[in-house]
Amino acid sequence: MLRLENLTRRFGETVAVDGVSLDVAAGEFLTLLGPSGCGKTTTLRMIAGFETPTSGRIVVGDRDVSTLPPQKRDVGMVFQNYALFPHLDVWENVAFGLKSRGDRRDALAPAVERALALVELGPYARRKVQALSGGQQQRVALARALAPEPPLLLLDEPLSNLDAALRERTRDELRALLKRLGMTAVFVTHDQEEAFALSDRVAVLNRGRLQQLGTPEELYGAPANAFVASFLGRANFFGATVLSVEGEHALCRLAAGGVWRARLAGDAPRTAGAAVRLMVRPEALELAPEGAADAIAARVADRRFAGAATFYRVQTEGGPEVLVQGRPHEANPGDTVRLALHGRAEPVAYAAEEPAH
Ligand SMILES: Nc1ncnc2c1ncn2[C@@H]1O[C@H](COP(=O)(O)OP(=O)(O)OP(=O)(O)O)[C@@H](O)[C@H]1O
Ligand SMILES: [Mg+2]
Repeated sequence: MLRLENLTRRFGETVAVDGVSLDVAAGEFLTLLGPSGCGKTTTLRMIAGFETPTSGRIVVGDRDVSTLPPQKRDVGMVFQNYALFPHLDVWENVAFGLKSRGDRRDALAPAVERALALVELGPYARRKVQALSGGQQQRVALARALAPEPPLLLLDEPLSNLDAALRERTRDELRALLKRLGMTAVFVTHDQEEAFALSDRVAVLNRGRLQQLGTPEELYGAPANAFVASFLGRANFFGATVLSVEGEHALCRLAAGGVWRARLAGDAPRTAGAAVRLMVRPEALELAPEGAADAIAARVADRRFAGAATFYRVQTEGGPEVLVQGRPHEANPGDTVRLALHGRAEPVAYAAEEPAH
């Protein structure tokens, strides 16, 4: 449905988007996820036709649209800054896209009403958009892009101004609606939880480069590099040395004590004696009973209750400070404890010195 081929955009010295290639299947919900300034908006604007690639190609369906103007691309877009018409009311803003493609007034009314109902703005149809809150304006922008039901919809942080409850509800409804309509969507966010909740697949960007593309489960469980691991949830890193390699796994001796079996990431060295970093999620660690095999000596620095879980910040002896997800009141600050891997947990090994991602 959508293919980006080696897409690059420079602004003077800045490489905003750096050789990004990816495919989005028809009906798929793909999210571009990454920190501020990593090139998400620039990528979206190139797909929509508001920005010209420095090099590379954009294919929508079976058409190379790289040089077509925006209105010829069959692509809808929700802009990060809404781009609404302040002098028009909500209804006229939402009808805009339908009118400009020549829909007749009697035909466009149901589409406008459907879109307004989705974002819960039906009663505001005749308000001027400048008399709406930021969150309400954002919902108008969403309704305007949805109303023409474009085959490909691009959404640039469309939920960022909604309060937590409305944001979650709109998120779930948005996903259900796009799936029902069979729309293909490229969604942009810097919020990992939102990306996981919405997407079929997530593309992680950093400094204009595609770091990894996969399902939320793949990205969380097997991050391709340390940047992805840290950006997607909490990650602990232990220094270690490879003892022996067996296929895609290695036995590693931790500087903090103990020997763990780890899965080797793509760029991890595969020779005995090599230095690696082992990544372990907080929920893959546990405070172990005295005498547990391959446990690490540590001391509890502090405890943070977070509702569904309790997090312990733990200082290992001669190793890093790490975060452990545990049970309430399992240990107290100052306690000496032992740290072990959960039954089936598998650390991921990366090269100790990674190139910049
Ligand atoms: N028109 C422009 N002129 C010069 N530099 C630009 C322009 N647009 C974007 N950039 C630069 O390109 C890089 C990527 O910007 P972009 O807006 O795509 O990031 P983003 O991932 O959308 O960030 P955010 O999460 O803050 O919205 C940034 O370094 C930005 O300063
Ligand atoms: Mg942006």
